[in-house]
Amino acid sequence: MRVLVTGGAGFIGSNLVDRLLGDGHEVTVVDDLSTGRLGNLHQARQNPGLPVSFQRLDITSEALEVAVEKAKPQVVMHLAAQIDVRRSVEDPVHDAMVNVVGTVRLLEACRTAGVEKLIFATSGGCIYGEPGAEDLPVAESYDGHPESPYGASKRGVEEYLHTYGALYGLRWTALALANVYGPRQDPAGEAGVVSILAGRMLDDLPVTIFGDGEQTRDFVFVDDVVQAFVLAMERGHGLRCNIGTGEQTSVNGLYRMLADITGYRRPPEYAPERPGEIRHAALDAHLAAAELGWRPERTLRAGLEQTVTWLTG
Ligand SMILES: NC(=O)c1ccc[n+]([C@@H]2O[C@H](COP(=O)([O-])OP(=O)(O)OC[C@H]3O[C@@H](n4cnc5c(N)ncnc54)[C@H](O)[C@@H]3O)[C@@H](O)[C@H]2O)c1
Repeated sequence: MRVLVTGGAGFIGSNLVDRLLGDGHEVTVVDDLSTGRLGNLHQARQNPGLPVSFQRLDITSEALEVAVEKAKPQVVMHLAAQIDVRRSVEDPVHDAMVNVVGTVRLLEACRTAGVEKLIFATSGGCIYGEPGAEDLPVAESYDGHPESPYGASKRGVEEYLHTYGALYGLRWTALALANVYGPRQDPAGEAGVVSILAGRMLDDLPVTIFGDGEQTRDFVFVDDVVQAFVLAMERGHGLRCNIGTGEQTSVNGLYRMLADITGYRRPPEYAPERPGEIRHAALDAHLAAAELGWRPERTLRAGLEQTVTWLTG
């Protein structure tokens, strides 16, 4: 198939591109390199036999329509986004410009180019707001409201997906991702607690935990997330599916596991909790199991070991 991946030079997107090429698909990557790196596509691009092309462009620009029309993809995987929750609070207009307006431009391009299916990366950690302990792991039917502009923009896009499905018959699946971790997550970035902690431990630098460290997250390995995108090419039409393990791991627990893997000996330093962060998160992925045939394969320990190996490689 011809597949177009927006955000394909990013952490998750580039892992997805490698998998799609490995599966024999023809891939066009669209990315403005605002947080992604061309180096993430090195493996894909260094092999002259692989059918991959790269278009550096902003999804909010008119050039997007031309790129989609030229690539004529059957499937679009949409991962390009403003992903920084705190930045979305500071500059909600920019967040909406990229995440909402950019996506509507992409949907229009899909419509005119006759794209059959769009798979969207939404945020399982932000679209449901702050579910109570009794609602965890949270299911797709949970009726919470986002507490950040980032969560609101992701949720808003889901409404557009319904609309484009109804108006034009565009097939879509929204994958609500838990906390994704793994190779290529930027240790200097904002998003990934795993890569930040592991990166600092490997450099034997002090590690700061915000709050008491008993806040929990649902950590899912990037290869498992990539598998969900691949399955959604054929299945799960018109649905939001949670992609997570359903298990809560505390930041203190994560710290201990990473310290053990990296041989780090220092105790953590604790700093005041950051405002706006949710206390507990975990996603119920039964719908993904039933509709996509998806299950997380990698244990946290195995995924962390692979991430640390990549960071040291
Ligand atoms: N990492 C996670 O834990 C997580 C969790 C839930 C959802 N997601 C979603 O998954 C997707 C990928 O996230 P990631 O962690 O790989 O982040 P990332 O920052 O590595 O990837 C995002 C990519 O989009 C590109 N991009 C940003 N704005 C763009 C624009 N205007 N035009 C073109 N390209 C643009 C960036 O350069 C980058 O390559 C995002 O949509 C994010 O919201 C990620």
